[in-house]
Amino acid sequence: MSELTTMKTHWAASLSEEDISKEIQLSGWVSIVRDLGGIKFVELRDRSGIFQVVSDPNINPEVHSVFQKLRSEDVITVKGVVSKRPEDTYNETLKTGTIEMYPVSVEVLSKADVLPFQLDDETVSEDLRLKYRYLDIRRGKILNNLSLRHKITKTIRDYLDSIDFMEVETPILIKTTPEGARDYLVPSRVHPNKFYALPQSPQIFKQLLMVGGVERYFQIARCFRDEDLRADRQPEFTQVDIEMSFVKQDDVLSMMEGLIKNIFKTAGVEVQTPIKRIKYKEAMDRFGSDKPDTRFGLELFDVSDIMEKSSFVAFSDVIKNGGTARAIKIPGIAGYSRKDMDDIRNMAISFGAKGLAWVTYCEDGSVKSPILKYLTEAEMAEIQKRAEAQKGDIVFFVADKASVVFNVLGRFRLYFGKKLNMIDESKHDLLWVTDFPMFEYSEEEGRYMAMHHPFTSPNPEDVDKLESDKGNCRALAYDIIYNGNEIGGGSVRIHTPEMQEKVFHALGLKEEEIQAKFGFMINAFRYGTPPHAGIALGLDRVVALLTNSESIRDVIAFPKNSQAKCLMTDAPAEADESQLQELRLKLVPVKK
Ligand code: AMO
Ligand code: AMP
Repeated sequence: MSELTTMKTHWAASLSEEDISKEIQLSGWVSIVRDLGGIKFVELRDRSGIFQVVSDPNINPEVHSVFQKLRSEDVITVKGVVSKRPEDTYNETLKTGTIEMYPVSVEVLSKADVLPFQLDDETVSEDLRLKYRYLDIRRGKILNNLSLRHKITKTIRDYLDSIDFMEVETPILIKTTPEGARDYLVPSRVHPNKFYALPQSPQIFKQLLMVGGVERYFQIARCFRDEDLRADRQPEFTQVDIEMSFVKQDDVLSMMEGLIKNIFKTAGVEVQTPIKRIKYKEAMDRFGSDKPDTRFGLELFDVSDIMEKSSFVAFSDVIKNGGTARAIKIPGIAGYSRKDMDDIRNMAISFGAKGLAWVTYCEDGSVKSPILKYLTEAEMAEIQKRAEAQKGDIVFFVADKASVVFNVLGRFRLYFGKKLNMIDESKHDLLWVTDFPMFEYSEEEGRYMAMHHPFTSPNPEDVDKLESDKGNCRALAYDIIYNGNEIGGGSVRIHTPEMQEKVFHALGLKEEEIQAKFGFMINAFRYGTPPHAGIALGLDRVVALLTNSESIRDVIAFPKNSQAKCLMTDAPAEADESQLQELRLKLVPVKK
């Protein structure tokens, strides 16, 4: 780090034995004060780390009288000469553990009250940490995460700049961008009863930048989505948003691989390119997930053909009605107790299964199963062959609609992968999932919705399925997966007004609705639009994974908690009556 200001000649942890005899000034916080036989040892902390300053009443009584009053987290500045510590006082745990300073002057810049929690206390609740986030940041872990986040952001800007991308800002007060979540609305004072939406992503604007001739755009963009929060979701989060003109899918994927390589390198991780690719259908069939963790096996297999012909009506009926039956073999658990199996069945039911069937290949060579009575010897033999089951294994079966079967067995796979320690945590497994379906049926809405977003191009081979066979229409859409987490997603876009209207119709939008919501976009496509495609990387997720953080909250300076609240400022809060009046808003009391 470089030299600094009039109050600081060095970063504390940048000092080394080479600096012995140098006159320096350090400023920072009193991390720890120790008193050993009347001598005061202070660990002075700044952003870089720790340096020890010592005061001895016999050497400098004036300095010592100040040191005697120092408390943890007081802010001080000290001047003096760097000296070597006596060898028997070396501190191996500190970078600066062989040097110290006896200050010739000390000034207290500000005093600290007793903190609401000790900075080194690992048991502090997250709520308390979030309430005093500025102290939490001081603890070092969050500061380190923010520092890596900064470095990664810089890498992204440098890399994209080097390949001719241009960073362009897009507006925050907009008309809605449909990404499938709820919008945050902002009432307009100037236009009573009208609302802006906050962008769920810059999607529409980045496409219009392509119409505008920008050709290669990126933005470190804040996005806002009012959805149920989880460890990997925040109501406002950051995307590395990218769009390119005159490209096909492969161009975007290989550009991204360069970017990913650079990002991971900044975090000290080497990534091999090209990154593996797998089609959505294969991902579901083998792993029961569109974001498979491929660091371990435990793949699913299809038993529909066996079950369809069997006398097991619960299964054969499901298949005859268009469902599917799949299975997963879990090795070495044949000794599970009745209670264990009940728990596993309950887990399957909590994941949405109607039931859970299994076959246990016991250590003594016998085979036990609640569905033995329904299956012939030949059927049992075929199952064992397909599962490659051996003594000690259990094979689990679920029959239902494909979405339910994959959800249940995909989650089983992850559950047992973790439980049986089958996941190599040192692996950095990157994967492209391509060929996503164009549409996804929403039970809630009772209609097909865009699986990615409505600007995604259908696969040219499947255009005739847009109306007639929505469930089997593929899109030119892709996701990038890291150790089983979706870290980014994008698509080739529609760039003709005709196709865009066709897709809106396929999504069930009426002509007037299309014009009112997206008329400006379809219109833009009439004035010469290059073929274009893009992607957005979830920056918070990437940094959280690269710092081994449990939650993306740990890589965001001031995050919201899981109830979308900022515990430090108490947002969201009530508005003043006068503000409401200006906005012509009336509140409806919440019924208790
Ligand atoms: P998508 O909705 O897939 O695509 O978002 C892209 C990536 O953003 C991250 N992400 C989130 N991170 C934290 N909190 C959230 N609530 C959250 N939601 C999404 C994920 C995800 O992979 N406009 C398209 C991209 C495109 O087509 O170019 C889009 O937003 O890592
Ligand atoms: P039964 O003899 O009908 O009680 O069913 C035998 C086993 O099949 C039980 O363990 C059920 O939990 C299980 N089962 C029933 N329906 C399903 C289903 N759709 N998927 C998975 N297992 C099922």
